[in-house]
Amino acid sequence: MKEVIISPSILSADFANLAKEINAVKEAGAKWVHIDVMDGHFVPNITIGIPVVKSLRKATDLVLDTHLMIDNPEKYIEAFSKAGSDILTFHLEACRDISHAEETITLIKSFNVKAGVSIKPKTLPEEVFPLLDKLDLILIMTVEPGFGGQEFMHDCAMKIPVIKEHAPDNLIIQVDGGINNLTSRICTSLGANSLVAGSYIFNQTDYKKAIQNLH
Ligand code: DX5
Ligand code: ZN
Repeated sequence: MKEVIISPSILSADFANLAKEINAVKEAGAKWVHIDVMDGHFVPNITIGIPVVKSLRKATDLVLDTHLMIDNPEKYIEAFSKAGSDILTFHLEACRDISHAEETITLIKSFNVKAGVSIKPKTLPEEVFPLLDKLDLILIMTVEPGFGGQEFMHDCAMKIPVIKEHAPDNLIIQVDGGINNLTSRICTSLGANSLVAGSYIFNQTDYKKAIQNLH
């Protein structure tokens, strides 16, 4: 089995039973849990906010992998850090320019939290090159952010080797959107070492088998 970090996205979990769902994916072998934060501006959907992250922190010791799909991410870094996020990933497209992104990375690290940057399908991989040596994680979206259950965009996966070639060895290369037992293999063979999966895991009854099938 290749060393791939699976991060189940709770966007597709039962929101009335989040702690139970998170414990179930932990028992199924997950070490991370992916939390999709959406503000209704950066993306056309509204999901989870700071109080939920705070409650989840009390409910689990899994790595809280928080994906901020929000405008003005710098305004909320402190709150999401203090709520207990272990990783904070924001979108390059939410930044004015590269120095805004660099400042946001520095801010995240000042709270002792790991920093990630995500790119939407239309953003070129070259745009993140100046940030790669400052980051812990790069998140390549293989769907338009906003909703679970969309179809994997194969073109976007071709960004993985381009970024990998320019990345330090320890950078986590994560892919999010449309991951299933087939697309997971495409991504890992191209060099991804972390996969986010929402509907593929939570729409099955056997989470353990679902997670194993992603390796
Ligand atoms: C989409 C989110 C994803 C989403 C993935 O904007 O960032 O994390 O939950 O869902 P699936 O795995 O169903 O494509
Ligand atoms: Zn996500």
